[in-house]
Amino acid sequence: MATYYMEPSRTFSEFLLIPNLTTKACTPANVKLKTPLVKFNKGEEPAISLNIPFSSAVMQAVSDDGMAIALARSGGISFIFGSQSIEEQAQMVRKVKGYKAGFVVSRSNLKPEQSLSDVLALKEETGHSTVAITDDGTANGKLLGIVTGRDYRKSRDPLDRAISEFMTPFEKLIYGKSGISLSEANNLIWDHKLNCLPIVDDNGNLDTLVFRKDYDEHKENPMELLDKNKSYIVGAGINTKDYTERVPALVEAGVDILVIDSSDGYSEWQHETVQYVKQNFDVKIGAGNVVDREGFRYLVESGADFIKVGIGGGSICITREQKGIGRGQASSVMEVVEARDEYFRETGTYIPICSDGGIVHDYHVTLALAMGADFVMLGRYFARFDESPTRKLKVGNNFVKEYWGEGSNRARNWQRYDTGGKSKLLFEEGVDSYVPYAGSLQENLDKTLGKIKSTMCNCGSLTLDELKANARIALVSATSLVEGGAHDVILKESSLSEEG
Ligand code: IMP
Repeated sequence: MATYYMEPSRTFSEFLLIPNLTTKACTPANVKLKTPLVKFNKGEEPAISLNIPFSSAVMQAVSDDGMAIALARSGGISFIFGSQSIEEQAQMVRKVKGYKAGFVVSRSNLKPEQSLSDVLALKEETGHSTVAITDDGTANGKLLGIVTGRDYRKSRDPLDRAISEFMTPFEKLIYGKSGISLSEANNLIWDHKLNCLPIVDDNGNLDTLVFRKDYDEHKENPMELLDKNKSYIVGAGINTKDYTERVPALVEAGVDILVIDSSDGYSEWQHETVQYVKQNFDVKIGAGNVVDREGFRYLVESGADFIKVGIGGGSICITREQKGIGRGQASSVMEVVEARDEYFRETGTYIPICSDGGIVHDYHVTLALAMGADFVMLGRYFARFDESPTRKLKVGNNFVKEYWGEGSNRARNWQRYDTGGKSKLLFEEGVDSYVPYAGSLQENLDKTLGKIKSTMCNCGSLTLDELKANARIALVSATSLVEGGAHDVILKESSLSEEG
């Protein structure tokens, strides 16, 4: 006979936090959001912690190298999507690991025999006014000179004038040698009143450029998530099919942590994948998704370093409609947290839990953390920002960004190309959609973090451990949900919520 669970499963929107005493020490500035990313034994430090409890979803429309750099800069982590070829994914990981904040690969490059009209056309196309002149016109060719707006007069100089005649030649350039630190580069910039410092290797080839403005930007990110070599920490999604080829390539590219990306992780396939990784590599791996204690226990005993929770709650997800599997996100988190705490008492090993999907309002993040999740994973939230890899479009009077599920035909197309059309999707588990464009990641994240810290102060908590231990969470009735928003008034347009 089937087992019945007659208590309805719950979502975050059905709960509210009850304030605790706010002491005078409880100010948002004093709140710390550091949280473990991987398992650790009692009394020890986790090998990797996040500075903010945020990760971006393993999705084509969310987590590429650009998002990974932006989020690591703010203290969180991206898991680069695995629904692409192994080489492309490894290349994205390599770009994140090779990225040195403040050192940028030159994006505007020309050859000395090209002309002023080429400079102007490139400026029009890229918006950059600094052009590197290299022997072969590439970003890493031999550096022969630099052209900036100060080297020509657009109104007077003939358009066919060769660049070699008006560029600042290499002999007159101030430059740094590869390996220079950002602060040394910055000193050269200030001492010589430069806007841009080229960095050149021992053979005279252009390595990167350092711009004056980037140093200031870099200094503003004290939360950034760095490994011991001062590179950004990055994760990557894997699957349970091609892992014997994908994992070695990702490890070789320098990935810090893997996660198995699946809507249902309670499977022998995941057990085998985790075991393979643990037996062959010194790299961390998360597994999931699960929604109950049995799934949690199974994957932890397989060796997983963190567990991802959630089936069917994602904004683009139609798994519940299509397959009839899933569980309310809050109920899933609560049960898995209970199992995690039980496991900790038994073994002394703490397993971080990631609440994945279904975050609609910022306070849902606070609730997930208060319920015991260590960090959250979001897709829709990050898809709205400049840094997500998708197109920004105008629909009617509003700007939107594209956002599609990994289980949609759109995301699965890469596989069909790979397998010559043999693995056609039988049915979709995700939709293709738009989300409202919301601007830059940093600006939005600052606002969200501000709200979380402020709520934590309401709950008398300065750390996430205190929040977990002290939170008082109340289930609310369907009718009281109505009084939670503005009600019985006619809203003026300016006071309508901006939240996506
Ligand atoms: P969101 O933050 O609510 O948009 O949810 C993002 C999460 O939805 C991801 O991290 C995945 O766990 C899940 N997801 C991504 N693509 C699909 C899909 O096509 N079907 C079902 N779930 C998906």
